[in-house]
Amino acid sequence: MTDLSSTPAVPAPVIHRADYRPPEWLVPEIALDFALSLTATHVRADLEVQRVGTASGPLRLDGDGIAAKSVLIDGTAHNDWYMDGDSLIIDLPGERHTVTIETEINPAANTQLSGLYASGGMLCTQCEAEGFRRITFFPDRPDVLSRYTVRMTGEKAAFPVLLSNGNPVASGDNADGTHWAEWHDPWPKPSYLFALVAGDLVASRDSFTTRSGRRVDLAIYVRAGDETRTGHAMKALIDSMRWDEDVYGREYDLDLFNIVAVADFNAGAMENKGLNVFNTRYILADPETATDGDYDAIEGVVAHEYFHNWSGNRVTCRDWFQLSLKEGFTVLRDQQFSADMGSAPVKRIEDVRILRAAQFPEDSGPLAHPIRPDAYQEISNFYTATVYNKGAEVIRMMTVLAGPERFRRGTDLYFDRHDGEAATCEDFVRAIEDGAELDLGQFRRWYEQAGTPRVTATLTHAGDTATLVLSQTVPATPGQPDKQPMVIPLRTALFDRATGQHRGEQLLVLTEPEQTFTFPGFTAPPVLSINRGFSAPVAIDLPMETADLVFLAAHDDDPFARYEAMQQLMVRHLVAAVSGDLPDEARGEGLAAIRDVYASVLADAALDDLMRGELLILPGEGYIAEQLAQADPSRIHAEREALKRWLGSQLAGPWQALHDRCTAVPYSLEAAARGARKLKTQALVYLAASDPVEAARRAKAQYDAADNMTDRQGALMVLAGIGTAECDEARRAALADFHARFAGNALVIDKWFSIQASALHPDTLAHVTALAAHPDFTLTNPNRVRALYMAFAANPQAFHAADGAGYRMIADLILKLDPINGNVAARFVPPLGRWRRIEPTRAALMRAELERIAAAPGLSRDVREQVSKSLE
Ligand code: ARG
Ligand code: ZN
Repeated sequence: MTDLSSTPAVPAPVIHRADYRPPEWLVPEIALDFALSLTATHVRADLEVQRVGTASGPLRLDGDGIAAKSVLIDGTAHNDWYMDGDSLIIDLPGERHTVTIETEINPAANTQLSGLYASGGMLCTQCEAEGFRRITFFPDRPDVLSRYTVRMTGEKAAFPVLLSNGNPVASGDNADGTHWAEWHDPWPKPSYLFALVAGDLVASRDSFTTRSGRRVDLAIYVRAGDETRTGHAMKALIDSMRWDEDVYGREYDLDLFNIVAVADFNAGAMENKGLNVFNTRYILADPETATDGDYDAIEGVVAHEYFHNWSGNRVTCRDWFQLSLKEGFTVLRDQQFSADMGSAPVKRIEDVRILRAAQFPEDSGPLAHPIRPDAYQEISNFYTATVYNKGAEVIRMMTVLAGPERFRRGTDLYFDRHDGEAATCEDFVRAIEDGAELDLGQFRRWYEQAGTPRVTATLTHAGDTATLVLSQTVPATPGQPDKQPMVIPLRTALFDRATGQHRGEQLLVLTEPEQTFTFPGFTAPPVLSINRGFSAPVAIDLPMETADLVFLAAHDDDPFARYEAMQQLMVRHLVAAVSGDLPDEARGEGLAAIRDVYASVLADAALDDLMRGELLILPGEGYIAEQLAQADPSRIHAEREALKRWLGSQLAGPWQALHDRCTAVPYSLEAAARGARKLKTQALVYLAASDPVEAARRAKAQYDAADNMTDRQGALMVLAGIGTAECDEARRAALADFHARFAGNALVIDKWFSIQASALHPDTLAHVTALAAHPDFTLTNPNRVRALYMAFAANPQAFHAADGAGYRMIADLILKLDPINGNVAARFVPPLGRWRRIEPTRAALMRAELERIAAAPGLSRDVREQVSKSLE
């Protein structure tokens, strides 16, 4: 395929937030007419263009890899236009014109999956951020809002279903075997929210009546055969619609809401107005093929896309620097929704774990950027954990500072003020300030400064007073050497050792580089519990006695703080061990303390099993590496495995009893049964570290008895990680059975690839090499690529192989994938980009791979930006 867009000869221009200029031309109306075909779709676009005020510039229309077959102005052929790079420029004399442009595109050749593309015989679109310009010439920027009328004509046999945004207006059959449909979306929207789907699909249907009595027809379109697996997504949609009315006062605004599931998709899903398009993995589920984690992810992503109807569509973004305006806020909303649907404490711990695993490394690496970036080359590279998850944390802090009622007054004002507009992060902050009556002056630095703030806490005690000194620093990040102090809201409690109770939580708001807080009335030194609920996305340095961490792990009534105390206990032990900083005696004491806390969590009858499962998760290797200036991944891995082995052997009896107890719980989606499934596999993980033969026996039994994917995948994951020779037959047999059992189910075959790529098995690198040549592997399906290679890149032992073979594998992948799909290829650069934080020998190998990529000709803008920043 020749792609005009992906081979810039010179480095891409840098686009700066400060250079924003309002558009000179608007497009209040657009009519699109598609003659659909997999290889040659003809597009006719009629743009009603309107000059803004006294603007004097020509009409500039963005394009990417397309050519204009004809241009008409007000119905008359027009030759007075020219191309400036990819842009089509027309000098227009008057104030209002109709510009008609014809283009032809080849969806089947569109392997980047941006714009209009083919997936398994159907046609679909992905336009965010800049895919619309791959369909037709248009001012492809989110501050140009238009009313869309879309007409599609296509073969009835190949494309029986024809969908676009808004409402169906008319449809009919032609004599030549084609049919057509026309859709109209009454809500003005930016081009990134345009969508079209044409294919042989079946719908699962339901309905929802809004609180003002509007009946909304709901449909989830999937391939025939998949309609039995849409029930959970439909329930999530209905729950989301009700929740957004109850919690944010937001009602749906069309008579129908359609979702389409697509197997080839770069991201998770897309919030196109009235026509959400989803990666199949966030729609399809049944107990046999989807894990409890998959069920939760579906609920969260369906809600996320639905919530965008207000936070994203009704109020959209002025420019792409404002991406967190819709993404940060919508992630917060989906997190709050999932917390309300299930266990709020467990959800909070999971969200913090994701933030620490995915976002903290961004903040401390070469790609660090504020949640509102200042510059980019390729906007696709900024769909990051920083913009999404840290963006959500920043707005969550506003809820902490304002309280829920006042925060709601702020969001009401925001939606009220900016409905129908393309807004900025500043608009959002001001609406919260005005509505919640909150001064967010200094707080705005969270939008400006990158890097995870570090808070150092020192608690002393004298007489009857406890004194807490808090100081903060924000580390330097690329382009931001000097930082200003942030506003850091810390929910805090001081515990009496004697009673095991605290006297009420306080919100301490740190605004200065250093502040002192005093607490009278303590005759003995209390125990400090700080950043409860993870009220601020910061790292806390707190020198604490092991005994105090053990105390909090047993007594803290804030579930996150209890989890955090256990994590700290283990992180401190592991960091000391890895740094060679742990004399035998201290090692023994540390291990004993961790074992005792584990034993009490295992025995604590007051804990529900979902929460118990959270408390029993070891800190991730990446998070341990984050604590070190330069990490040796093999030492971290060895020490973490040693801790796991110790816990496995010391608590062998309790783990086996736990496995037996949980095995007896029958399958259901209730919390208790889900908790049992979570613990069942966790017990196997610890046992596998200390007694692989017994663990393999239990895992095989769990696999053979499984009536659901959570148990089956968990058992297979454990078996796949056991390198012991006498267990190898069981490992191979289970993997072969799994593949045969689910042949043809792409989402489950993805699991088969990723289980092997994430396995603890010592031969994982060789396994992945072999899997890349498996007939089921393909570089053209993003889910499959991620299943194999993202899992591999996130497997520290395999990726950080001492000879650099893991780095080479990922670099080879990037080079091979880039011409096919630069957007997905660029996602594999950050793991290599972490080299500065890795010990020198491996760092040199990682850097060499980045340099090899950088030297390759014709890199996509996506990969080039990430690689060059990683080498700077
Ligand atoms: N707006 C979509 C969502 O968060 C994601 C779009 C992804 N686009 C991209 N270029 N990565 O739900
Ligand atoms: Zn989103």
